Amino acid sequence: MSTLILGIETSCDETAAAVVEADGVVQSSVVSSQADLHARYGGVVPEIASRRHLELVAPVVRAALEDAGVALDDVDRVGVTQGPGLVGALLVGLSAAKAIAWARGLPLVPVDHLRGHVATLYLAPDPLDPPFTCLLASGGHTLLLSVREREGYEVLGSTLDDAAGEAFDKGARLLGLGYPGGAEIDRLARDGDPEAYSFPVARVAGLDLSFSGLKTALLHAVRGLTETDLAARRADLAASYQRAIVRALAGRLRAAVERTGHETVAVVGGVAANSELRAALPDARFAPLELCTDNAAMIASAARFARAVEPPGYLALDAYPSAPL
Ligand code: KG4
Ligand code: ZN
Repeated sequence: MSTLILGIETSCDETAAAVVEADGVVQSSVVSSQADLHARYGGVVPEIASRRHLELVAPVVRAALEDAGVALDDVDRVGVTQGPGLVGALLVGLSAAKAIAWARGLPLVPVDHLRGHVATLYLAPDPLDPPFTCLLASGGHTLLLSVREREGYEVLGSTLDDAAGEAFDKGARLLGLGYPGGAEIDRLARDGDPEAYSFPVARVAGLDLSFSGLKTALLHAVRGLTETDLAARRADLAASYQRAIVRALAGRLRAAVERTGHETVAVVGGVAANSELRAALPDARFAPLELCTDNAAMIASAARFARAVEPPGYLALDAYPSAPL
């Protein structure tokens, strides 16, 4: 039987576990979202997230093993998200992974969450080979990357303020939509006119991005409307706002491709699920829809290409909250 990797992800508000083979075949991927729990606060509440991860991590790992039809004894290594993310949330997954690995004498692979998103592209049935230019757009990060090897990447540009997913979430909140807002705006935008409003796409030097001005422009547009007018214009506002974000992302990705010269282009992260972005970049390789938002199959995938730590070395590992510079 091929080498089996158990992946665990708890960096934000998804508790996830997956079983992936060394050749990238996903045997199971279980994601338990806490979105409903955080919706009433309009965003993730770190303390609540940590507590929920604590309740969910064991049953989610059990479900992933069960779905794969394997037992813990069949697992050869454990991959877990070490950062970036909410430290309390990360520590739950990291501690669970340490306990599982330690109990079985298995090696543990600490995985960077952002490398995890990119490693979605290396999964079967159609793994992508570097080199490629990659846009990573999630709720916490927006990066343009030159990927030359599976073990890492070079950062070419990033957002100077809000991440693209964060811009979607904040925009949704201004429009009175639910959390998380990206999928809600995506849905509503289908009924709206993307040219109804002209929202500014910030011009930033190099390959960096900025979304805070866009959010302010939406705030001003919404402020001038009565409740009834807002209801009537909500779809147009959503469509125009989405158009501005997609334009900014697609434009920067094109500029990044000019810089790298890599022919292949890929998009990963929660925002890669956006239907307009997918349509705007017909030649780009997108992560499969179900693996765009946080999951553990991507963490197990990245664990195939990262350094494994033998027991007891990993017991001292700590979580890190932000991306290393
Ligand atoms: O990658 P992810 O699950 O978590 C982070 O690592 O941050 O990304 C979550 C983000 C949220 O901001 C969510 O609003 C956004 O991805 N998102 C979308 C869509 N689906 C999720 N944004 C735009 N369109 C979507 N369809
Ligand atoms: Zn993520």
